[in-house]
Amino acid sequence: MANYMIAPSILSANFARLGEEVDQVLKSGADIVHFDVMDNHYVPNLTIGPLVCEALRKHGVKAPIDVHLMVKPVDRIIPDFAQAGATYITFHPEASEHIDRTLGLIRDSGCKSGLVFNPATPLDHLRYVMDKIDMILLMSVNPGFGGQKFITGVLDKLREAKALIKASGREIRLEIDGGVKVDNIKQIAEAGADTFVAGSAIFNAAKPTDPNRYDSVLKALRDELAKVK
Ligand code: DX5
Ligand code: ZN
Repeated sequence: MANYMIAPSILSANFARLGEEVDQVLKSGADIVHFDVMDNHYVPNLTIGPLVCEALRKHGVKAPIDVHLMVKPVDRIIPDFAQAGATYITFHPEASEHIDRTLGLIRDSGCKSGLVFNPATPLDHLRYVMDKIDMILLMSVNPGFGGQKFITGVLDKLREAKALIKASGREIRLEIDGGVKVDNIKQIAEAGADTFVAGSAIFNAAKPTDPNRYDSVLKALRDELAKVK
């Protein structure tokens, strides 16, 4: 089986007790923490910044933190996230005037870098920077909110991105973000994704007071991935 990673998006977690939510979801078998940063400018919503990332590290979170920047401009905030303990930092090409420079800045800060493609954004931006990225993130909803429906046209785009990665001969993760659920994760994996962001599917699935509240949904997602040929 491929080296699949499940990345709960904390956008749908209970922010009033975020540390415990992250502990629980990791304990239930999640691999990385997806951290959505929105600025009410590049996207029409406002969320969390480096202070919250740092707080999770201070709380004791050891798992990789996957920072998805939906902010414009991006460069100023990158060193702050690196300092705060980010593992991956990904950004949207539309939000940077100098994509190559921004990718370099992420790696120079000691983090893994990635580009994020909105549903209607073509993959052309990858062409000259495949050697500078560690992750390609395809949005399967328009960014800004959790709980939206998966856009099925992105399955073809996943196949396209997977072929580009293969042709490059490089180790680049292929992440999908938006509308990932137990009933479609297998199909998404078969199209080529290896890293799965899921927000509402995970955090809305459980009773808030159950200490093992995320076990069954994580198991259901893993069971589906185990069926992938
Ligand atoms: C949307 C965010 C996603 C979001 C996904 O802009 O990038 O990470 O949390 O939420 P679900 O899994 O509910 O579609
Ligand atoms: Zn995201």
